[in-house]
Amino acid sequence: MTSPARRSRPATEADVARDGHRFSWLKPDRWRAGLRALVLEVDGEVAGVGRIGRNAVHPVRDMVEIEIAEAHRRRGHGTALMRELGRYSKNPLSDKVVPGSERDLFLRSLGAVTYLEVPILRLDVAAERTARWCAAVREGHEGAARVVPWADLPREQLIDALTDRYLWQHASWSPTAPREAIRPVVGEEFAEGAVHEHSWAVVRDGRITALADLYDEPVGPACEGALEAVDAAAQSARADVALCLAAWLEDLRATGVATLDFDNHPTDPHTSPLLATLDCEEVDVVRLVEIPNGITAALRDVP
Ligand SMILES: CC(C)(COP(=O)(O)OP(=O)(O)OC[C@H]1O[C@@H](n2cnc3c(N)ncnc32)[C@H](O)[C@@H]1OP(=O)(O)O)[C@@H](O)C(=O)NCCC(=O)NCCS
Repeated sequence: MTSPARRSRPATEADVARDGHRFSWLKPDRWRAGLRALVLEVDGEVAGVGRIGRNAVHPVRDMVEIEIAEAHRRRGHGTALMRELGRYSKNPLSDKVVPGSERDLFLRSLGAVTYLEVPILRLDVAAERTARWCAAVREGHEGAARVVPWADLPREQLIDALTDRYLWQHASWSPTAPREAIRPVVGEEFAEGAVHEHSWAVVRDGRITALADLYDEPVGPACEGALEAVDAAAQSARADVALCLAAWLEDLRATGVATLDFDNHPTDPHTSPLLATLDCEEVDVVRLVEIPNGITAALRDVP
């Protein structure tokens, strides 16, 4: 790096032992395969730390995180460290920000752009309107679909369905690695992490058509989950997602859950319009942002 007082270098075990307590995260360079960690020194003192690494599920953008010690902020060190980390990859970088936060303002100063804005929707599970909505779904549902808790599903079938759903759901705005590469994470790990007694599926002609996943253990009054169709283009997808949601909400209500936050996306073609028919409150917004690197950094910097 150019400033004589500022330089960055790979983080070492000695850095971790000496300065680890000053930062929320510091590990030695290459602490895991393919993951790089740098420290930024100012006048010989560690003033900032950062890391960059491939995202095994979404290979088109790399993950990045930096932290500059408070006493050293607003002197260009964050910008310098981000540029230095960017030299380790040709991919653009990705992060999640709350609009207006320090992180948002900093990343915007680097030319970051939003690739998806995600509202966090909260539903009053116990509300009478929610109960009437669930009853209306059940009354209106036609056909031979069955709704079952995940605990009743064969494990491999569940993992395949989770993987299929993840693939199409992210294809347009965060393309994934091939199916077999992401199955261990978005299939197996998601299946392991969910509460099978309170996650639900719709099964039609022996196939899982919709999945609703709950990830809070133990299940308390405030929960978080997500749902969508397994094959979004199927004729019955909308009705099956509605049925899955109704069964899930009725179960959560009976379990004593008060609120459910949906970890969905505005691009979800069935869940999004269905949630619009419930009285959800928008409690937060997060933005998924891409930070220029590689070709986009070079083009950004064209004089
Ligand atoms: C965000 C962070 C890394 C910025 O580090 P920094 O060394 O202060 O950043 P820079 O000096 O390079 O700032 C570059 C520009 O970002 C913007 N910026 C940075 N911090 C800001 C703040 N608190 N409020 C408003 N704008 C800010 C400004 O436009 C700034 O340029 P300016 O100082 O000429 O106005 C640092 O505040 C930090 O470590 N925060 C906690 C961890 C974090 O949020 N990390 C996110 C990074 S992925």
